[in-house]
Amino acid sequence: MKTTKVTFRVNDEKVTLQVRPYETLLETLRERLDLIGAKEACGMGSCGACTVVVNGIPLRSCLVLTPEVDGASVTTVEGLGKDGKLHPLQEAFMEKGAVQCGFCTSGMILTAKALLDRNKRPTKKEIIKTISSNICRCTGYKKIVEAVEEAGKKSL
Ligand code: FES
Ligand code: FES
Repeated sequence: MKTTKVTFRVNDEKVTLQVRPYETLLETLRERLDLIGAKEACGMGSCGACTVVVNGIPLRSCLVLTPEVDGASVTTVEGLGKDGKLHPLQEAFMEKGAVQCGFCTSGMILTAKALLDRNKRPTKKEIIKTISSNICRCTGYKKIVEAVEEAGKKSL
C-alpha cells in the first residue's frame, strides 16, 4: 500500500510517521499516537467533538488528512496541562460544572483555547458565537460559556 512520510509536532513533540494518503488526523491521533482526547462522533465535520488546534486554528480532525499537517504544530487536549497542573480552561470547566458526559469537552476546550489565545477577555456574545460550532447534548451551553469567561479572567 502506498504511504506518505509526514513530520509534524504534536503537543511540542516531533513526530514522523508513514501514513496512508487518505488517513485522517483524527485516526492518526487516536490510533497511532494514543491521543484519545479528540472524539469521533459525526465523522463528517458537523459536531466539533474531534476539534484540535493546528497552527493556532481550531480544526475538525475528522476532516483533515494527516499529510496536510506536514510541518504543522498540533495541540490536543492532552497537551494543555503543564507541570502537573490543569490548563485554566480545564479548571474552569470543572469548577463551573461545564462537563457532563464529557464527549464534547475536549473539542469545546480547544475551540475556546484558540479564542482565548487571540483574546483573553471575549464578550459573552463572542464566546457563544465561537462555541456555536461545537455541539453539546448535555449541558445546555450556559455553564460552558461561564467556564470560558472564567478561564479568560484566570489566565490574565
Ligand atoms: S467527529 Fe469531527 S466534526 Fe464530528
Ligand atoms: S457534556 Fe455531554 S455532549 Fe457535552
